[in-house]
Amino acid sequence: MYVILDKGLFNMKVTHLTESEFGSVVTEIDLLNLSTEDSNIILSLWNERALLIFPDIYLSPKGQDHFARLFGALEFPRTAISNLGKDGIIHQDPADDVVKVIRGNEGWHHDSTYMPIQARGAVFSADIVPKEGGLTGWADMRAAYNAMNVSMKEKVSSLSAYHSYYYSQGRDGYLPNGQNSDGTYNAYGFHDGEACLRPLVKIHPFTKLPNLLLGRHAHDVTGMLANESEEFMDQLNEFACNESRTYFHQWNEGDAVVWDNRRLMHRVTPYNMSKPRRMWHTRIAGDPNTEMAINYR
Ligand SMILES: [Fe+2]
Repeated sequence: MYVILDKGLFNMKVTHLTESEFGSVVTEIDLLNLSTEDSNIILSLWNERALLIFPDIYLSPKGQDHFARLFGALEFPRTAISNLGKDGIIHQDPADDVVKVIRGNEGWHHDSTYMPIQARGAVFSADIVPKEGGLTGWADMRAAYNAMNVSMKEKVSSLSAYHSYYYSQGRDGYLPNGQNSDGTYNAYGFHDGEACLRPLVKIHPFTKLPNLLLGRHAHDVTGMLANESEEFMDQLNEFACNESRTYFHQWNEGDAVVWDNRRLMHRVTPYNMSKPRRMWHTRIAGDPNTEMAINYR
């Protein structure tokens, strides 16, 4: 475990969150001019704490992607997650595809588990913040695994589940408008390959510690009937995301975070969609050696 590091020694101040076993607030740091030593400290800290919060840091568009590359190649560069369109129009109709994506994000999930390679993490920054709601929550799947009894650990260690954006958005009524003749949709995550099979227990590639890999995209657990699987996964997700294992961040404009998507799940809390909210998301690609779905290897 890390101790609080003082400015001067490593050119940053680190304070662990006390609400959870993960998460640290890092201040007094220049993310765009990190020394090799400071970069290594940030990487080690991230692998251990899974969520680093940089209040009031105001990353530039290029700066955000530059900082994200410290953690690996990008799955995709800085992209708006927002109900505010480029034309200035606020998307708020429940039938609007933009609204459906945002509402879907209210459910706990790991990013891109529905893609052949699960995301490693993400840098996320706040640009326009509503007065109420729109918090981002994270849940610690390592702590969730550790909290299970031996027989439950053995059970989940023998199981895998399929992950699909068709499943999660379909179950919640958020599939996009306009389906292609082959059944796919022209939106990220709706690929035409088969659903991605992943073990329910993931060994973290850096710490080598086990954590659960669950979320709203996971369905059809191996060896279970569909309804049995859905009930099992609902109960497992509820247990895993017990509030004792979560932290919710109330954003201020200029805040940025980087989270470990291999270990943490996340979600947004509801907000009034008639009010603008704009976040910027840079997604860090997983390692094909450790984040590739079983059936895509
Ligand atoms: Fe997400």
